[in-house]
Amino acid sequence: MALLELEDVTAAYGRVRVLEGVSLSVPDGGAVGILGSNGAGKTTTLRAISGTVNVGGRITFDGQDITSVGPEKTAALGIAHVPEGRGTLPNLSVRENLLVGAYLRRDRAEIRADIDFLLDLFPHLARRISQNASALSGGEQQMLAVGRAFMAKPRLLVLDEPSLGLAPSTAQDVYEAIERLRKESGIAMLVVEQNANLAFRVVEAATILETGRSTISGTTEELRGRDEIRKAYLGG
Ligand SMILES: Nc1ncnc2c1ncn2[C@@H]1O[C@H](COP(=O)(O)OP(=O)(O)OP(=O)(O)O)[C@@H](O)[C@H]1O
Ligand SMILES: [Mg+2]
Repeated sequence: MALLELEDVTAAYGRVRVLEGVSLSVPDGGAVGILGSNGAGKTTTLRAISGTVNVGGRITFDGQDITSVGPEKTAALGIAHVPEGRGTLPNLSVRENLLVGAYLRRDRAEIRADIDFLLDLFPHLARRISQNASALSGGEQQMLAVGRAFMAKPRLLVLDEPSLGLAPSTAQDVYEAIERLRKESGIAMLVVEQNANLAFRVVEAATILETGRSTISGTTEELRGRDEIRKAYLGG
């Protein structure tokens, strides 16, 4: 069964409709990408999931209708978002940022174990554990944002363009960290990217979004086999 399912979802800012029909499905324990160019509606699709825009159609999570329930409820159900632009807390240390991610949890021993697990996977963060987030590089801040979301112990991690604003080699480092997290934890992911070469390191399937509509969906293997996808999203 699908963990997250969007069926013909529409979304609007006020009366301006920007999603015209988005359908996609993330299997339980699976990783799925949303690919699309600037302004295609990727971020809005994520806002539709967390219920911060006016939504039509149907969104279910773990069999439950979550259409328009709002961000507190979706977070409580186990959807953790890493927004565009990261949003780590600059004046808190790396460790404190991770603890903020776990603020709804009471399982102290497990929280400690999860922090150790993350620091093992993300040595960049381990080296800077006591430093303020503001002292981190862009790539390190992105890793911290992902780690912080993971600390909520979600069932689904939603990442909005983790590579945004990063140099290509740094973006590769960030994706290597995400790939490791995915492999070692098995957590389900929904990953928004413009660059399919990066997203395909992590996801098994993807949906193409064009001007507010999901057009083509398939496994990464199927998508790699299509000329128009290779040209538009894989650099030829
Ligand atoms: N807060 C807002 N109010 C009104 N229109 C918005 C708002 N945010 C986005 N839009 C519009 O909605 C459309 C989709 O934007 P969205 O941010 O979802 O695209 P995106 O695929 O995430 O793009 P990018 O790759 O640049 O992040 C765009 O036309 C954008 O101008
Ligand atoms: Mg966006």
